[in-house]
Amino acid sequence: MRVRRLGVVTAGGDCPGMNAALRAIVKAAELEHGIEVVGFQDGFAGLLTDQARPLGFDEVSGILVQGGTILGASNKDDPFRVPVQDGNSTSYVDRSDTALATLSRHRVDGLIVIGGDGSLRIAERLARKGLAVVGVPKTIDNDVAGTDRTLGFDSAVTIATEAVDRLHSTAASHHRLMVIEVMGRNTGWIALEAGLAGGGDVILIPEIPFSYEAIVAGICDRVKRGRRFSILVVAEGARCPNGHTVVRELVKDSPDPVRLGGVGAVVTHALQALLPYEVRYVVLGHVQRGGPPTPFDRILATRFGVAAVSALASGETCGMVALKGGRVERMPLGETAWRTKCVDPECERIGVARSVGTIFGDRPHAQSDTR
Ligand code: F6P
Repeated sequence: MRVRRLGVVTAGGDCPGMNAALRAIVKAAELEHGIEVVGFQDGFAGLLTDQARPLGFDEVSGILVQGGTILGASNKDDPFRVPVQDGNSTSYVDRSDTALATLSRHRVDGLIVIGGDGSLRIAERLARKGLAVVGVPKTIDNDVAGTDRTLGFDSAVTIATEAVDRLHSTAASHHRLMVIEVMGRNTGWIALEAGLAGGGDVILIPEIPFSYEAIVAGICDRVKRGRRFSILVVAEGARCPNGHTVVRELVKDSPDPVRLGGVGAVVTHALQALLPYEVRYVVLGHVQRGGPPTPFDRILATRFGVAAVSALASGETCGMVALKGGRVERMPLGETAWRTKCVDPECERIGVARSVGTIFGDRPHAQSDTR
């Protein structure tokens, strides 16, 4: 079936590069394929409430460099699990048919979902109901399987690296251990890459269990060699030695209600009791998701957007665009949406970090001198 009009949603948490992807979709759709584009507001919520607007050149002009999304986003709305309040109790109903009806009312022949793992799962379920869907993987967490990089990750790593760089001055001047907690949900991609790029002395990620003894041994080793400060980068999803993650809050009505946060404080208090010098922490939080995308993310967004339109135009019905070894390729959505891409503890990046003395808190410590 020839696609004449496509719909687009920006679902899940916002991140730098979503607008750049929207711009690419609208321009490529019109210029390359003569396809009209309709944008739905606030992620999948717009499909349930029928909030839509046509997107043309004027709407996307100038948004390449803007963070966030002009369409609005939501990480709460799942058409397959819509909460219904009955007094004090909440039940959940499947309203996916309402979403499909909205799309057909707007004469939309295919949908592009710019989303992370949760949104891509919803996209895959909509495709199973007969809708042609193409996913564009975006999330600062970089945890979508099947793609080497997700949109937004490079920008988040850039921001986190700058924060690590800036913490070095206070750490060095005051001879402190500075702990920085970064996002990433249940994976350690941001912590690993920002830690590597910023010369973090200790990197704690969910994929590598740590002990305080191993961290202290490594830091004391640095002190013995005259390094009177250290930087510790911890992923929000890192598991404490008791095996637990630290949960900041449970967000009612969210398909994935757990919001991580607080491990930086926990690690700081534990280490403060074991170290003879001051330990302070910083939680980077949503700063990692804000501001203009890096040039890498602008280019990736443009490549993903153009590829997603061309996939729909050529008859794709359940796919995702992905970066594989530098090339943009197409993957079956069903193969990627239900898996999480974690850091492999044996991967080359962990190996090189260990080679330059980075402490992951899992082994008796070898000499470190990361900066
Ligand atoms: O998935 C992106 C992300 O920023 C995670 O890194 C973080 O755990 C979560 O979203 C935060 O969600 P919220 O914006 O709802 O607090």
